[in-house]
Amino acid sequence: MPIQVLKPKFHVDECLAAIRECLEKGWTGMGFKTVQFEDAWKQYTGHANAYYLNSNTVGLHLAVKILKMKNGWKDGDEIISTPITFVSTNHAIMYENMKVCFADVDEYLCLDPNDVERKINSKTRAVMFVGYGGRVGQLERIIEICKRHGLKLILDAAHMSGTRVNGVFPGTWEGVDVAVYSFQAVKNLPTGDSGMICWSDEESDKITRQMAWMGINKDTYARSNKGTYAWKYDVDYLGYKYNGNAIMAAIGLVQLQYLDEENSRRREIAKMYIDGFKNNDKIKIVTANYFYECSFHLFEMIVPDREALLDYLSKKGINCGVHYRDNTEYSMYQYANGTCPKAHEISQNLITMPLHMWLTDDEVKLIIKEVNAFLN
Ligand SMILES: Cc1ncc(COP(=O)(O)O)c(C=O)c1O
Repeated sequence: MPIQVLKPKFHVDECLAAIRECLEKGWTGMGFKTVQFEDAWKQYTGHANAYYLNSNTVGLHLAVKILKMKNGWKDGDEIISTPITFVSTNHAIMYENMKVCFADVDEYLCLDPNDVERKINSKTRAVMFVGYGGRVGQLERIIEICKRHGLKLILDAAHMSGTRVNGVFPGTWEGVDVAVYSFQAVKNLPTGDSGMICWSDEESDKITRQMAWMGINKDTYARSNKGTYAWKYDVDYLGYKYNGNAIMAAIGLVQLQYLDEENSRRREIAKMYIDGFKNNDKIKIVTANYFYECSFHLFEMIVPDREALLDYLSKKGINCGVHYRDNTEYSMYQYANGTCPKAHEISQNLITMPLHMWLTDDEVKLIIKEVNAFLN
């Protein structure tokens, strides 16, 4: 079997037991385990609010939608975002007929505060910050800029499950309006597909609960718990079917117990790569600030002749990846091509190294040896 770049590790027996509980209870939809998972997530992260969704993508959409609705933003208004991300981040802005204004990235491959400030104009309403690979980057400076310019701040925390700064989850920092996590199949906390949206304010959390459940003002679980099944509800919004379900939450609750332990193994592997490549001047490692509290969803390097290296490693049974292609190269974001030169250049040479729970130390050593042999 080749070495995979990303591979989830499920605690199978415990997950199956938790799923069995759902099946025996006869409750696999929203409620029961989803409520338990929201409570566990709040407890773990310190977020005041948490609502369980079927993905991070839908959470980012709701974040933009609800902020637009509450603040009276118009179609064509702009949100500043990064070109180095999975397209969900930027599609979420487009779903609401707003425009993505791309700003360049810094050495952490997160938004560069200087370029963000340069890109602010009279139509700018918010900044969408991606904690790339679990990194915090210069989020503190972005918060300060948002405050100074009266902008909202959305944190795409898809990679940040477990990332802390001095024990605190950056998504809970004052000034972050909403943080959205991903529990997609290969994330640090894998389920099948799901996510969590965590608003700083209760009112937006309340709207989200309705908006993610077709606009209905009472959820089925809450109604069923009333003793008599109260069938009567109102529909206030044109909502969506974005809620998470108990089966995924059951897996999430089990996986959450192992998240910190697994993230520390990720850092061990990251440290092995850093030590293994430190004398190779052809390799530039994408750094992580707050290293010992970073979730390290991705380990990234900038290398010359990337395609040839990918090809060489694949022939040796080592599959690496690329996260991500500069989004302004995609047809639909072409309008911004050339606006983020650093992201554009880095994206040609970026390589994602294998990093997951199944990797043995010997495999990491072999990967290091092969990379150094090729880039000598
Ligand atoms: C940075 C980033 N944002 C958003 C997403 C979307 O997450 P999900 O698959 O849970 O919708 C992903 C995941 O693939 C991602 O990597």
